Amino acid sequence: MNDFLGIELSTERCRLRPWRMEDIPLIPPVANTRDISWNTSFLFPHPFDEAAAERMVYWARKGAGEDKWQFAVLVDGELVGSCGTIRGTDVEAHTARVGYWLGPAHWGKGLATEMVAELVRYMRDHTPIEQLTASCFGWNPASRRVLEKTGFRQEGLRRGVVRKWGKLTDLWIYGLLL
Ligand SMILES: CC(C)(COP(=O)(O)OP(=O)(O)OC[C@H]1O[C@@H](n2cnc3c(N)ncnc32)[C@H](O)[C@@H]1OP(=O)(O)O)[C@@H](O)C(=O)NCCC(=O)NCCS
Repeated sequence: MNDFLGIELSTERCRLRPWRMEDIPLIPPVANTRDISWNTSFLFPHPFDEAAAERMVYWARKGAGEDKWQFAVLVDGELVGSCGTIRGTDVEAHTARVGYWLGPAHWGKGLATEMVAELVRYMRDHTPIEQLTASCFGWNPASRRVLEKTGFRQEGLRRGVVRKWGKLTDLWIYGLLL
């Protein structure tokens, strides 16, 4: 087994570990909500059924520890969401893009800040990645705040480049040197 797939990280409240096949049926009850999809790309569909969960877990495990570092996040043994990175390509191969989500029942308790801070620490200490990038939709101030609280700085704003379900918004670009 790839070494990465055996790791486990902990914070005060969260356990972060790579996705396992047995997670698949546990994902839709947490992820099947417009509240998450509204703030993410079309790669995070709504409805989010078991087929979508299977695609996500296969995707997360392909290249894990080489060009992808994707974690299931658990609190008290229960799946609550995910955070992870995917490596850039070509001239951006020293960078990685960060993504994260939580089931809405778990919002507003500081969990995203806690898990993203641990992800940043892991990427800094255990991978060759030198810079992280992230982007948030204009209507997602909570996500921007998570990035600011975990050390990211705003690097740009791409006006009107996001159209989701018929609505246009800006894309806020963030970066963090590791
Ligand atoms: C974004 C998301 C991960 C945040 O999770 P969370 O655990 O609630 O975040 P935290 O509690 O760690 O921090 C949220 C911060 O945003 C602030 N916030 C929340 N709603 C806000 C709003 N409408 N305006 C301004 N700030 C807001 C909170 O007050 C908190 O900041 P504070 O600690 O300074 O008070 C969660 O809402 C989510 O999963 N959303 C859907 C998916 C998503 O957006 N993913 C990110 C894509 S870029």
